[in-house]
Amino acid sequence: MGNEKCSWICWIVLLCLCECGASHLSYSISEEVNKGTLLANIAKDLNVDVQELEDRDLSILSSNSKKYFDVNLGTGDIFVNDRIDREEICSNTERCSLRIQAVLLNPMVVHRIEVNVLDINDNSPDFNEHLYFLNISESVSPGERFLLPVAEDADMGNYAVKSYKLDKNEHFSLDVQSTGEDGLSAELVLEKALDREKQPELKLILTAVDGGIPGRSGTLQIHVNVIDANDNTPMFSKSLYKVRVNEDTATGTVLIKLNATDLDEGMNGKIVYSFLRRGNSDLTKVFDMNSETGTVTLKSSVDFEKTPGYELRVQAKDQGASSRSAHAKLLIEVIDINDNAPEILVTSLVTPIREDAKLGAIVALITVVDKDGGNNGLTKCSVVGSVHFKLKSNYKNDYSLIVDGQLDRENISAHNITIIATDEGSPPLSSMKIVTVNVADVNDNPPRFVEPVLHIYVIENTPIGSTLYTVKAVDSDLYDNAKVTYKLLPVSSNDIPISSLLNINSDTGDIICLQSFNHEELKTFKFKVQATDSGVPPLSSNVTVNVLILDENDNNPTILAPYSEHGSVNSETIPYSAEAGY
Ligand SMILES: *[C@@H]1O[C@H](CO)[C@@H](O)[C@H](O)[C@H]1NC(C)=O
Ligand SMILES: *[C@@H]1O[C@H](CO)[C@@H](O)[C@H](O)[C@H]1NC(C)=O
Repeated sequence: MGNEKCSWICWIVLLCLCECGASHLSYSISEEVNKGTLLANIAKDLNVDVQELEDRDLSILSSNSKKYFDVNLGTGDIFVNDRIDREEICSNTERCSLRIQAVLLNPMVVHRIEVNVLDINDNSPDFNEHLYFLNISESVSPGERFLLPVAEDADMGNYAVKSYKLDKNEHFSLDVQSTGEDGLSAELVLEKALDREKQPELKLILTAVDGGIPGRSGTLQIHVNVIDANDNTPMFSKSLYKVRVNEDTATGTVLIKLNATDLDEGMNGKIVYSFLRRGNSDLTKVFDMNSETGTVTLKSSVDFEKTPGYELRVQAKDQGASSRSAHAKLLIEVIDINDNAPEILVTSLVTPIREDAKLGAIVALITVVDKDGGNNGLTKCSVVGSVHFKLKSNYKNDYSLIVDGQLDRENISAHNITIIATDEGSPPLSSMKIVTVNVADVNDNPPRFVEPVLHIYVIENTPIGSTLYTVKAVDSDLYDNAKVTYKLLPVSSNDIPISSLLNINSDTGDIICLQSFNHEELKTFKFKVQATDSGVPPLSSNVTVNVLILDENDNNPTILAPYSEHGSVNSETIPYSAEAGY
């Protein structure tokens, strides 16, 4: 405090003294001045001699326990004796004063002194806490406001909090409003939407500055916790998954593990996998999906021949409120395994086939079917172990079974033709079929006699009608082609007509006598027997028969009488008188 100011105050004090007898002094001093700082010279201000102060035992009394001021009795100076903290003395009021008394004895006079404590900017704004947590959902739209705690400054007036600052950041601005009576409120204003997946937490620093020069400041750390919203859709790692599975794969085998991710957290990011049903096809009977892990396993066996591939649609769905889902395609290709042997189908089998069939004649049509694909379904087919038949390829897997050798029913009447088809899988599978072809008879064999010439010995006098001999010709053909009939033929035209001698049973070959032979008349003769089968045309063969008639003692000696006329009984007339010895 300068001297001029002091004298101005003293002048007021004097006026006071004049009026009231006991004077009322008023001074001002800044808080927090050093001990010993001079407040005023009381001798001068009371206009008393310094000696008198000492004589009348001047003392300074404080209204509270602290002795803020003391006096130098030698000079009359009142000086600061203890720390003066305005904020301690009067925390809430802007005007602050200390009341002290200067007491003189003999006679006792009390001078009241009011000391205005002047504020200095010795306090910084203070937020009461250093950390402030704020939970804000990422779904909150820009423009939303969030009230912040305010800072307190123990200093008053100009030294109180005058402004707030927010460090620069992408998402928030600060809006400071006056609340009247020098108060301020600060609000965070969301400028740009938050994204938890990019930045789950933001740290901001709010600074409160007071009005001192230079100003003092206090800071508050604001932790913004971004609360997840279900704003991310699950994503499959691929839009198309492809799997190849052998058709002999055991059920329960894991085929693939799908993978979808969701950037959200908690239920918003928890994915449940499933198949999407399409139409009526219930592929869930064939495949199983683990809804939690996305693992697809084989539930029942697959068959390339029935279904060479599957197309499934899969879904990944998060479990957040108003859940989001993603779809992908899963192609499952079934790989053929050589699990099917070729099948031999016989169509249009011609049986029986005539034994005179020409080479190349078609006996049957053969089709080979293999349900497998690729090499597993390629087949070769042939006839094994037959010299009479072979296969001729027509087109792809169609064959003709044709005659490849002269047939002979009399030799082989039925052929068991073995056809083997083999596919080109590894290992190859094959199958066999036996086609039985019967050979139909053709009249290609004449009846055959055992010998070309027969000699028959006949004893004369055989009774008429008796069977002389039975000829037999054998025909190796069948049925009518083997049905033999016999007939007699002369050897040459000048022979005796054989039909007068013999007859033949055309069915049995029995040769029957039509007359009794007489060796004495006919010693030998010959004829032919022709055997003819009933085929169309008929075939025949001859046998020459030589007949020899054997002599028998069939004649008594005969007495030849003298000539007599033919037909008359031989008689001789013997004379009655003939004597012995006639
Ligand atoms: C053909 O097969 C049948 C039936 O297996 C059998 O009875 C017959 O003897 C066979 N024929 C030939 C000529 O092998
Ligand atoms: C059998 O004999 C008859 C009459 O002599 C003759 O016409 C025919 O050709 C002969 N048949 C055979 C197969 O020799």
